[in-house]
Parts: sequence; C-alpha cells; structure tokens
Amino acid sequence: MNRDTTPAVSPPAQARPNRHRLVKRVLIIAGSAALTLILLVSGSIWWLYSKADVSTVGKVHFENRLKVPPLADSRIDDQGRRVFGLKMQTGRTSFKAGQETDTWGFNGSYLGPTLRAKRGEKVVVNVDNALPEPSTVHWHGMRLPARMDGGPHQMIAPGTTWSPQWTIDQPAASLWYHPHPHGETEQHVQRGLAGMFIVDDDNSQQAALPKDYGRNDIPLIVQDTEFTGNGSFDHSKGTFASSGFLGNEILVNGTTAPYQSVNDELVRLRLLNGSTARTLNFGFDDGRTFSLVATDGGLLNAPAPMEGLQLSPGERAEVVVRMKPGEQTVLRTYPLDIGLNSWTQRFNGGADTFDVLQLRAAPTLNPSPDLPAVLAHLDLPTGNNPAHTRTFDLQGTRINGQSMDMNRIDETVTRGTEEIWKIANTDGSPHNFHVHDVQFKILDVDGNAPPPHLRGPKDTVFLPPQSAVRIALRFTGTSDPDHPYMFHCHLLFHEDSGMMGQFIVADPGEDAQQPAGGRNNHQHNHS
Ligand code: C2O
Ligand code: CU
Ligand code: CU
Repeated sequence: MNRDTTPAVSPPAQARPNRHRLVKRVLIIAGSAALTLILLVSGSIWWLYSKADVSTVGKVHFENRLKVPPLADSRIDDQGRRVFGLKMQTGRTSFKAGQETDTWGFNGSYLGPTLRAKRGEKVVVNVDNALPEPSTVHWHGMRLPARMDGGPHQMIAPGTTWSPQWTIDQPAASLWYHPHPHGETEQHVQRGLAGMFIVDDDNSQQAALPKDYGRNDIPLIVQDTEFTGNGSFDHSKGTFASSGFLGNEILVNGTTAPYQSVNDELVRLRLLNGSTARTLNFGFDDGRTFSLVATDGGLLNAPAPMEGLQLSPGERAEVVVRMKPGEQTVLRTYPLDIGLNSWTQRFNGGADTFDVLQLRAAPTLNPSPDLPAVLAHLDLPTGNNPAHTRTFDLQGTRINGQSMDMNRIDETVTRGTEEIWKIANTDGSPHNFHVHDVQFKILDVDGNAPPPHLRGPKDTVFLPPQSAVRIALRFTGTSDPDHPYMFHCHLLFHEDSGMMGQFIVADPGEDAQQPAGGRNNHQHNHS
C-alpha cells in the first residue's frame, strides 16, 4: 500500500504569505487609485460647484444708454386693417466695444420692434423669413385663432412670407413674440429673435399711468447670455444644469451694462423675462418698494406694493417705480427663494445675482399723478363650474409621461367652457407652464391663496420642484378642430426636448382632428 503521507495538493510553504502580500499590494494600489479618483471627481465637482455661482453685482459700470426697441411702423390698409411687417434676418451686432457677434433679429440685427395695437383693431403681420432655415413667429399671450398662433405647425420656409391676421380682443397687456419651431426654439430665441407686442384699450389709454413710450414707459427685455473672448455667443450648457443654458451676464433690450435716464417722478417698467432658462428675482439695490400694476395678461384690479418680484422665462410684469430728483437706483436680481436643495439651486442658477439696469433721475423731475386706486375691473375665469378638470404632471422633459408628438392631440376642450387644470411639478428641477390662447387665473399655489404677483391674468406660471398650482381657464376664442394650440414648459430647452403638448378648442360635438400635416381630409366619423 502506498502510504505516501506527503500532502499532494498543499501549496509550498512560502506560497501563502506571498499570495497575501500580493492581495494586500493590489488592495493598496486599488485603494489609492480609488481615493485619487474620488479626490479628483469631488475636487472637480467642488470646482464646478464654486464656479457655477455667478454674480455681477457691483461689477457692472452702467456705461451704455439703454436701447429701447423702436415702435413698429404700421399702415391701415383699404380693409381698415393695421398692417405690420416683420423680417426675420441674420446680422451682426456690437454688444461690446470692438466686438461683433453673429445674431438674428426682426427688422434689424438683434430683437425686434415693439408692435402696438388697440383692442378691437384687426391686425395683419407680414412675416418674411430671410433666415437660412425655417422658423415660426408665435404671439405669446395673444388670444387668437389657432391657425394664426405661430406655433410649430405654422412653419415659414426661408424666402417665404406668412401673413396671419386677427382681431385684437383682450384687455391691454404687454405681450411678446418669438419663434416656435419644434426642437429649435431655444436657439432661435437665443440668437435674438424676440420682441414685444403691446396691446392698448380704452381703459389703459385713460388710466393715470406713465405712458410715454421710451421715456417713462419702458419695455425691458431681460435675457441672460454669455460671450466667448472674441465676442461670439457661447450658449453651451453647464455640466449639471438641468434647466438648460444659463449665461453669466445680462442684456436688457440687447444692451450690456445699461442705464436709463428718468425725467418723471414715476417710471413704468414693462418687464419681460426673455431668458431661455433662467428665472429672475427682481428687486432694487436699496430695497425700495415698487408697485406691480400688471401681470402677463394685463392690469391688476389695484396696484400691489412689493420689494421683490420673481419672473420665470416668458413671464411679464409691469411695475411702477417712484424716483426722487437726482438719485440713482439699480434694478438687480437676487437669489431665488424656491426651496431648491443647494445642489439644484447652485447648478440651475438659483444662487446667482445680477446687476440689471441703473435708473438715473434728473435733478428735477416732472410731477406724476399718484397711481389710481383702481386700475381695471378684471373678468378672470372663476373655476366655479368647470366643464372639465385635467391634471398635468411635469417630470423630466415630459408632461404626463409623454413627450411632444406633432401628430397627437393631447387634450380637446369645448369652446365656451371653463376648465380647471391642476399642474404639478413632481421633479427635482424647476419648470414652468405656459398655455397658448388664454389668460388664466391661478386659483391656488400648493393649496394656498396665490401671492399678489400671481393674482392677475396669467399665461405662464412658475413651478419650483415639488410644487403644484390649480388654474382656471376660459376658452371663449375661436374653435378649430384642425389646428392645435400648445401648452408647454417655457424653459426652452425643456420645450425643445419634448416638454410640450397640444390641445384643440372644438365646438360641442366636434372631434379633434389630426393636426395639419399628418392627416387626411377633415372628416367626422360619428357612425
Ligand atoms: Cu412663448 Cu408656446 O410660447
Ligand atoms: Cu405662447
Ligand atoms: Cu421645464
């Protein structure tokens, strides 16, 4: 019997310690590599984090006189219509001495003229597209037939003219216009395509409010932007910015470092947040109180005093500021107070601050009458008898889990009815919500009565993360089963990424048809 007692499979005596040593060495190397990686990653995140905080407060010299967009020329044609012309064109703009930037504009190289018409007038706008690519022009805040709305279905091919016409039928308001080509809106607006559309009515023309355009009644198109060293736009998005492009400086009507001379005791500022992603929390550097007189859709019942006013992209407000002879004050933006965690706050611009515009009062000022106690008699939807209640969940770049489809009608509302829409941001990122064709009333914000700046007529409402609003809408415009209106997030990167849906206003019993372009003839299939 072979009783070899030598263990056949035992490793050599020294092998074990060797393997241990090897394992230890591998662990040490891996560990220090991991540590280095962690340090590198956290270091660069820290670097990005600290770099992500932008402030121009105290660094702006206000050396440029504010440009005021000219009032657009118009003529009355033989049918009594007021006819405007807008040409979308490429150009070069000098924002800073010695530098030129490639830009787009309407009737000029950057932004566009202010269109102005009165309630009851029939207007025609001949829009020429002289750009190298198709685009559209949308009348944001305007109540008008869906075919004239200028959304993504009303594309204007290069070299062609689109001539929408409609009757102005809404209270006086500061509206605006901008392109709306699906997937391209952010770029087209960033390059400079935006302008104001002021609607007047008898009430606004009689009201004791500053109304001398460009002197004591001043449109302010406020946008953030960024330039490279050679003066071209840099619209790249930050590493962790989920909202889209955030710039490091402010343009007002295309002016950098602007000042405006004031010759009257009261000055009215028509503020438009024309930024593509940035929410702006306005206030004055001396903390002065100003009076809010109008929101998106027009005048409030009464002026509302406040020290701060937050506007998300696309929102407007009219404020009246009282000046003392010889003084100066700076319109600024302050950090957002929207309960964002510090990460989201930082990377979505919530901690940023900007000097926006300096107001310089003359040594003697023309006296201004006090603001009227009553500005308008609002007739907003009540939400008391909604024909329908709908819910919209904002998450990522989707609404109710769906991404925009040009060939899908998401909602059909009945003309002449009121509805309640419940909108919830269930996301970690900020969003807002804009509805075409209507001015709505905000019923509540997170279950509470809306604050004063959200009590007037609105077409766009901001939704910080984990917030909800209920709005009442009244659809009394035209019906058209073939052409949809849009609802969407007005953070344009989100909108372009699919955070948009389509609704149709139909007469009772009428079907929503497939939108023009992807459909057969208009057919009712009731059988
Ligand atoms: Cu200002 Cu649908 O847009
Ligand atoms: Cu709009
Ligand atoms: Cu959004």
